[in-house]
Amino acid sequence: MTPAVPAADLDAVSSLQVTGAGPARGTLQVPGDKSISHRALLLSAMAHGPSVITGLSRGQDVTHTLRAIERFGVVVTDAGEGRVRVEGPLRHEPDDVLDHGNAGTGIRLMSGVCAGIDGLSVLTGDQFLRRRPMDRVAVPLGLMGAAIDGRERGRLAPLVIHGGGLTGITYSPKVASAQVKSAVLLAGLSAKGSTTVEEIHPTRRHTEEMLDQFGARVRVEGHAVTVEPGELTGTDVRVPGDPSQAAFWAVAALLADEGEVIVEGLYPGYGRSDFVGVLKRMGADVDFGLSTGVLTVRSSRLKAVELTAEDIPGIVDEVPVLAMAAAVAEGTTVISGAGDLRAKESDRIASTSAMLRAFGVRVTETEDGMVIEGASRLRPARVDSHGDHRIAMTAAVAGACAAEGTTVIDGWDSVATSYPRFAADLVRLTRAGVEQGA
Ligand code: S3P
Repeated sequence: MTPAVPAADLDAVSSLQVTGAGPARGTLQVPGDKSISHRALLLSAMAHGPSVITGLSRGQDVTHTLRAIERFGVVVTDAGEGRVRVEGPLRHEPDDVLDHGNAGTGIRLMSGVCAGIDGLSVLTGDQFLRRRPMDRVAVPLGLMGAAIDGRERGRLAPLVIHGGGLTGITYSPKVASAQVKSAVLLAGLSAKGSTTVEEIHPTRRHTEEMLDQFGARVRVEGHAVTVEPGELTGTDVRVPGDPSQAAFWAVAALLADEGEVIVEGLYPGYGRSDFVGVLKRMGADVDFGLSTGVLTVRSSRLKAVELTAEDIPGIVDEVPVLAMAAAVAEGTTVISGAGDLRAKESDRIASTSAMLRAFGVRVTETEDGMVIEGASRLRPARVDSHGDHRIAMTAAVAGACAAEGTTVIDGWDSVATSYPRFAADLVRLTRAGVEQGA
């Protein structure tokens, strides 16, 4: 028999067993926003003078970024009360390989930083990250003048970057990606002349918002962002709660009768809470206060929805959990224009479809999306996260709130990349039985 492990210590287990099913009820705060946390560390590291960051995500992804900036001689200290003090600027080229673990945002944004540094940087990550495309940042940074190589002619990490001597460009990425936009803008800070990124669909604006906060000259015109070269000045950053983590609890509240969840302290800005609009289109009783950052969700009868390329940039991280909501909704949900999900922490079209099938849902995978037959009664499942935290957390809320019996999630340890103590919050909100799986 596997020995019992307290829920708070279940972050590192490779397999989690969740026994449901009942409603999610309660009020909580989720970890600091991951996207903002990466940027807060990187901009503080590039800036002159100290910055103090409050509410930083303690997930492994962000911790890898924190360790990486230390390799440049940046001093990071504990400022007490959960705050972190960063003393920039970057003092030299990194003195060792930068290991970004599972973090796509970490490695891609850091590539932009390294492109601007006169010196050599080597960037790598775990087995999943080393399979994800890096040419989307290597190509524009190369156009700016950085010499970038990697496996498969620079397509895959490890990446080797000889930075410095950059010239500003105007660039239109083929994919709508905040990571690509951000890498180019960060490199643009040390380029000759201005740098502009024109997006096909607008994406989250954290980099441009934070560049402004750190004193850069940045302007947004329609779908285009332009940054001028210049130095950043250290400042204090407060990291709000992560809306994409709140989405798991929103759907948890909707998966069983009598569910009601309130999530406080969320980032209320552009491009991160579009899942709320999607849930409203599905008929959910959901409210997100843009002035308060409070999300309230009550159990509702859901109906199917159609999601297209226009919708995807705003819900890029929430598709797996929205697909789970679609599985219990009345009617057939069609998701298209989501081909880039195949290049996430896992091939998210394949891994989401496989997860839904394991719960007994009828789903057809298409090249760029899924067709999900709703009104499913979920059966307990054995799910492989494929190293993807969002698949693991989606399966956990489904197992806790909708699938009567015991669900097992393999690859549970991936959750620690973004949401340490997720299992503890799950137990508190749903009263599900949670233990180490066998
Ligand atoms: C992120 C951008 C998105 C998102 C990721 C975080 C960011 O990736 O999926 O979780 O912080 O810029 P893409 O830019 O590749 O769409």
